[in-house]
Amino acid sequence: MRKNLVLVMSVIGYVISYKAKNEVRELENKRQKEKIENFCRKNALDLSEVFIEPEESRTDYRPYLMKLLNNASGRKFSAIVVYDFDRLAEEEDIRKWIIEEFKKYRIQVYSVTQTSFKVPPEESEEKSKSIKEKVRDLPSLPEVVTKVTEIVQNPKSSAAELSVVISQDSGLTSRVLKLVNSAYYGFPKQISSIQHAIMILGFTTIKGLVLSSSIFRIFSSKNNLLSSLDYISFWKHSLLAAIASKRIYKELFFEEDENIFSAAILHDIGKLILDQYDHNNYANVTAEVPDQIYANQVLKAEQKYCEVTHPTIGHLVAESWNLPEVLSEVIKFHHDPLKSEKYERLATVVYLGNLISQLVLDSGEFRGDVFDENIVTHIGLNNDDLLIFFNDLQEEAAQLEDLESFFK
Ligand SMILES: [Fe+2]
Ligand SMILES: [Fe+2]
Repeated sequence: MRKNLVLVMSVIGYVISYKAKNEVRELENKRQKEKIENFCRKNALDLSEVFIEPEESRTDYRPYLMKLLNNASGRKFSAIVVYDFDRLAEEEDIRKWIIEEFKKYRIQVYSVTQTSFKVPPEESEEKSKSIKEKVRDLPSLPEVVTKVTEIVQNPKSSAAELSVVISQDSGLTSRVLKLVNSAYYGFPKQISSIQHAIMILGFTTIKGLVLSSSIFRIFSSKNNLLSSLDYISFWKHSLLAAIASKRIYKELFFEEDENIFSAAILHDIGKLILDQYDHNNYANVTAEVPDQIYANQVLKAEQKYCEVTHPTIGHLVAESWNLPEVLSEVIKFHHDPLKSEKYERLATVVYLGNLISQLVLDSGEFRGDVFDENIVTHIGLNNDDLLIFFNDLQEEAAQLEDLESFFK
């Protein structure tokens, strides 16, 4: 499998090449480079390389910048640092445009001379080092995931377009068809085309399945190593959490949300990462907290043994895979949803969907004490409502059995 070096908060420096005599320009370039290096050191940014603008590109640097941006789509870095951003482009409009363009790839632009470009607070040096080490060798996402996400995000795209992309990946095609033909969906006739499957399942469910299937496969291919996670249970838990979250959202807000299914199905990817990339420490976590129903105990044990929790590492990895912001944010806050500034509603629904899925599959009985009362009342629910969702979901879960083949 193709490996992609993923460095969290890895940044590149960009030296602006001024028009000047060769020696003067060289000195100036050196000075900028040093300033950028100091800035990165001070702010614990991992400077991977420094680009020096070719002299001739100063008259029209945009093609050069665009080339850089295109390379950025491979997501090898998360920020670009220039010495003086104001001098990169004279017109303010163009400067804004540059920031917007980089933003599309979730790449921040920092300027050494301007304090308005804020560096986000970094975790302690030791901890961020250990996180980086954990995700360094993560395989990149298959291209089909990016394409599917793009198509689904575009309101103008059609089922035909989406089916063309999925059909190019034969493994994925057969998994989607297997799912739609499973007893869970219960269609009397065999469905044999992807386009038909998309029409039945809908864009948003298909997106969630493509995303999760591709991601889980990356991990299950490694799964011949020691593992503390039961992958089939993990997949069932994730799928049921997605089904529950989608339903709760609709009940509460009388509408569908295009991200809820994907966000919920991916909420625990951090666990897969810890299991595969920090196996020995994670084995201590599962040994210490075999019953994962009380999230606080799990998070505490993860912090103790792995120095990082699954929502944090899941968030970092989702970001480095360039998944939409809403997904990485919900992953980050699924155990603490009221802290999410932008996606509180989605994070809260996934918080509930996760716990209900866990109660249904693990304990088999409703236990009100696993829910945080503040969070439940904040979204306008009470224990009785949760019990109704629990009963509903229990019926669904009974039909999940034959889905096991989906990820094999
Ligand atoms: Fe979780
Ligand atoms: Fe979970």
